[in-house]
Amino acid sequence: MRGPDPRNFITGEEISGGRLVGLLDRAEQMAANRPAEGAGALAGKSVALIFEKPSTRTRISFEVGVAELGGTPIVLRGNEMQLSRGESPGDTGRVLSRYVSAIVIRSGSHEEVVAMGEQATVPVINALTPELHPCQALADLLTLKQRFDELDGLKVAYVGDGTNVARSLAIAGSLVGIEVVVAAPAGYQLDEGSPAILTEDPLKAVHRADAIYTDVWVSMGDEATAEQRRADLDGFRIDAGLLAAAKPETVVMHCLPAHPGEEITADLLYGERSVVWDQAENRLHAQKALLEYLLG
Ligand code: CP
Ligand code: NVA
Repeated sequence: MRGPDPRNFITGEEISGGRLVGLLDRAEQMAANRPAEGAGALAGKSVALIFEKPSTRTRISFEVGVAELGGTPIVLRGNEMQLSRGESPGDTGRVLSRYVSAIVIRSGSHEEVVAMGEQATVPVINALTPELHPCQALADLLTLKQRFDELDGLKVAYVGDGTNVARSLAIAGSLVGIEVVVAAPAGYQLDEGSPAILTEDPLKAVHRADAIYTDVWVSMGDEATAEQRRADLDGFRIDAGLLAAAKPETVVMHCLPAHPGEEITADLLYGERSVVWDQAENRLHAQKALLEYLLG
């Protein structure tokens, strides 16, 4: 089997741990000196941003990021393209490669993004699939780096549904020496092959954790089983009691959008130990550094 194609960013494993830390350093420079740092990196280049599902953070941070790097973002809804009428992802990738310098795609099918990545001759960046959300993980690492400086040796406890966000957090964490522990009920857990430590006990997960992280209980595409999910995940909400079982300096993370009162209590989401809003901002800085790394 071929290894990940380093031209793309689909699983997050295309970039080694050492390079990832360098990319995060660059993102910190971009955050500190915005928008001057990196301006011109994409001069004369266009980037296709294909969104087959809703998005607030990913879409807008990529659109603003491409513009700040001097490039032209082209935002496309899936239903505006022949993809929605059966044109293959591979052919779409081949054709777009003749126009643009990179393709960013959010899709309801991970296989579609992989197929596009195989046929495109420009970088393909995964902007979320049901399996993975590697761009979110980049911002998560950046947020932890800003807070704790050194990533190697940190422990992050993810509590809730074993989503695309959890899976990518586990992968990204493993690349830089972060121990990721995922607490989820049976049926909602990551696969055994995941680089995370898996448990059904939230208290065990948060013990000595530097960050407690959660994501929605009803992801895009899971709407039909929403009621069952809420019932099954009820003991996996992050709240003040769980935070108290961690450390005084433990921070609270969430990829957003949040449902206060469901997977996270409002006091944690909006409280002083929340780094959630920095995480959201960091989508911009991390993705600018990623675009410069892949295209610069
Ligand atoms: N966290 C995240 O990806 O948010 P959006 O769905 O708004 O892009
Ligand atoms: N797990 C969520 C993440 C949203 C950013 C979803 O896929 O809907």
